[in-house]
Amino acid sequence: MKSKIPFIKPSFPKAEEITADYMRIIKSNWYTNFGPFEKKFTEEVAGYVGQGAQVATAANATLGIDLAVRALLVKNQETDNYVIMPSFTFAAGVEVLVSQGYTPVFIDIDVNTWQPSIKQAKRFVEQNKDKVRGILLCNVFGVGGVEVDDWENFAKMAGLPLIIDSAAGFGSEYKEGVPVGVKGDCEVFSLHATKPFCVGEGALVVSRNAELVARIRKLQNFGFNDQVIEGIGTNAKLQEINCAIGCRQLVGFSKRIQARRRTLVRYKKELSKLGASFQRNDELSAVAFASVVFHTSENAEAVLGALSQNGVEARSYYRPLHFQPIFKDKTKQADSLDVTEMIASRIVSLPVHDNMSEEDQTTIIDTIKTCLEP
Ligand SMILES: Cc1ncc(COP(=O)(O)O)c(C=O)c1O
Repeated sequence: MKSKIPFIKPSFPKAEEITADYMRIIKSNWYTNFGPFEKKFTEEVAGYVGQGAQVATAANATLGIDLAVRALLVKNQETDNYVIMPSFTFAAGVEVLVSQGYTPVFIDIDVNTWQPSIKQAKRFVEQNKDKVRGILLCNVFGVGGVEVDDWENFAKMAGLPLIIDSAAGFGSEYKEGVPVGVKGDCEVFSLHATKPFCVGEGALVVSRNAELVARIRKLQNFGFNDQVIEGIGTNAKLQEINCAIGCRQLVGFSKRIQARRRTLVRYKKELSKLGASFQRNDELSAVAFASVVFHTSENAEAVLGALSQNGVEARSYYRPLHFQPIFKDKTKQADSLDVTEMIASRIVSLPVHDNMSEEDQTTIIDTIKTCLEP
């Protein structure tokens, strides 16, 4: 059955707007490789994030993380090369690390914030001082982590690079008025069509460190500095048309986030009455979707089934990475991942659209109420 209410419903500029931009690109004869739209887009994004943000665009966030790892982490060929990261996230980061010869070490999440557990990270680093090369933190579901300053202090004290995967988090805030974007050494946003701020395929690497951003801009162009290859890079440039779409998407973006937050507020009001819980700080996020944890895994399963029956597309994000057999001999676990497994078994992510009708919200809420009420 075709879903009546899709999980994701991206907003894109009107066809006439994209056509007008494309005409400009044809006229300039500049399709990729840091053209005028890329310049405009990076400046506008830097203005949006504020706080002295410097910006590199990239072809997607997987390559954005890849570039950050190339720029910041250093391997020691004599020993293991561990990188701390959560299991409760998407596959991109772990695949980058494994491909580049690092051993990801999975840490658990905190039961209230669903964000990576700093306690477990500290313990592992203390016991493995000489083998840890960096931290790939995640702002889970694009929600700004409430302990991000503690992570920054910890990384600084331990002398470890801190890369933050903020994939769905463009437009989120750590605290009221403090946009996600400039914490750690850098933050990486995905501009995939599934994200609230999207261009199709694309990414942003954001940092206060201008030198780092300059290095990333070389690495994404094969490491070239003029004719000389200064580092082993890759091709991760973002095309002009995607940058043009990005500029269009910034117009009215704050309003779209407010609308998404209103949908989340309604879900929270209605579903909290059933004992469902929500992520800390999600009300200040860009609300990629609304993640809800139910009392039991049976509840979550029943909700997913009932929503599907009623034509609502929902998801159970994330399936923990340590459940994937392919990573078994390529990764380690810092300690038990009990909270990850518990949250993953009870979580359901509900659709949120820019302009979701009250009727659609009601359908979703009533379906859940009916299926959970005795
Ligand atoms: C947490 C996280 N990191 C990285 C990515 C990869 O982003 P991209 O599709 O832009 O490569 C995603 C994609 O959904 C994600 O959710």
